Amino acid sequence: MDYLTIEGGYKLSGSVRIGGSKNASLPIIASTILSQEKVTLTNLPDVVDIKTLIKLLGMLGANVEYHNSYSATINNGSINSTTAVYEIVSQMRASILVLGPLLARFGECKVSLPGGCAIGQRPINLHLKALEKMGAEISIEDGYVHAKAPNGLNGAKIIFDKITVGGTENILMAGALARGVTTIINSAKEPEVIQLCEVLVSAGVRIDGIGSSELTIYGTNRKTLSFPDIAIIPDRIEAGTYLCAGAITKSKITLNCVNATHLRASIDKLESMGCEFDIIDDNITINPPNELKSINFITTEYPGFPTDMQAQFMALSIVSDGETIIEERLFENRFMHVSELNRLGADICLKGNIASIHKADELNGADVMATDLRASSALILAGLIANGKTNVHRIYHLERGYEDLEGKLSGLGAKIERVKANKK
Ligand code: EPZ
Repeated sequence: MDYLTIEGGYKLSGSVRIGGSKNASLPIIASTILSQEKVTLTNLPDVVDIKTLIKLLGMLGANVEYHNSYSATINNGSINSTTAVYEIVSQMRASILVLGPLLARFGECKVSLPGGCAIGQRPINLHLKALEKMGAEISIEDGYVHAKAPNGLNGAKIIFDKITVGGTENILMAGALARGVTTIINSAKEPEVIQLCEVLVSAGVRIDGIGSSELTIYGTNRKTLSFPDIAIIPDRIEAGTYLCAGAITKSKITLNCVNATHLRASIDKLESMGCEFDIIDDNITINPPNELKSINFITTEYPGFPTDMQAQFMALSIVSDGETIIEERLFENRFMHVSELNRLGADICLKGNIASIHKADELNGADVMATDLRASSALILAGLIANGKTNVHRIYHLERGYEDLEGKLSGLGAKIERVKANKK
């Protein structure tokens, strides 16, 4: 398998363009099932997960036309199957986002259970309970969710016991075509959820409370939607990762095409660690200090500190002055990067869902293994400052959610390259 090799110790400079948001693209691609007409999406990120979900729509019978790596037109008028097979869903658990729209439009569907992943069990009980509340009959057979609502879904009052991004998105899409009004209480408020709401509104669905934790969706009673062209919002996690790259290498770099308001929690943390920022329109320049201060982190739902930035800030904490405590509250196993970072010379101890990090005077390059998407980026960040070469293996994790990471980092002056599997 290919791996990335990084020669540490080089400063970064210049600017990098941030791509479209993976986690906004996925639900929006799924929502196009609610239309029988063409929908054109632009500013899609050129990452594997997007290709996988679009491939799933193709397998359901949709007609897909790629204009380039960042833009595609999807026509779900030709969908002739409502079965999302294990082969795809097991590759990308966010495929579960087709459940709500398929059920709402066709009245029945079969979607493979997504199963867990490295960071946790990732159950979908809240999705299923909410759909039952809307009148669906749900059964689990042979590893598949069988969902039926032959007369369509009914609007309902849904109170989520836990804030769930995917659950909110599935019910938003189900409620869009339901008969009557659906209220989601304790809904997620991530920018990606907000863009899904805005896209559904632009396609003809009335939604009240956008951006709040209580959403009210006025269903069209199975009347399918007409979407205008959709430009995906910037990826706040990709952006946060590059800000951490600037901070960890003590380099002034600029990010283009970002929305700083989506990054407030990460920017706030970096400011507390001593970084300064110039934010002009959709550009952010980071000016890091010579010595980063240690601060503590607790991951929580938006607008709090994002769990998807936990691993990256852990890498940063390795070289910040003092002790750092990181508490991971959303996922039960999102510290897989700890043992790999310790292989590079970090001093990180784990106690349940709490990590304590003591400053390491230096890191030394080694072979390390990526375990999940964001953990992989943390290993890259550490490699940027480790002495000698760091080889990051199993980079298929990275390619799921980071667009051309080695190309973008090389463009900033990092010494990073991909080593092809058959070349040693
Ligand atoms: C989304 O996952 C993101 N993925 C994740 O990003 C992100 O980490 C997560 O939200 C939290 O912000 C996409 O948007 C594609 P949840 P999702 O449902 O929707 C529990 C990345 O790196 N839960 O908000 O799956 C669940 O186990 C990825 O880009 C239930 O118990 O997350 C978790 O503990 C990783 N039952 C918590 O809720 C359910 O039915 C939050 O999960 C659903 C969720």
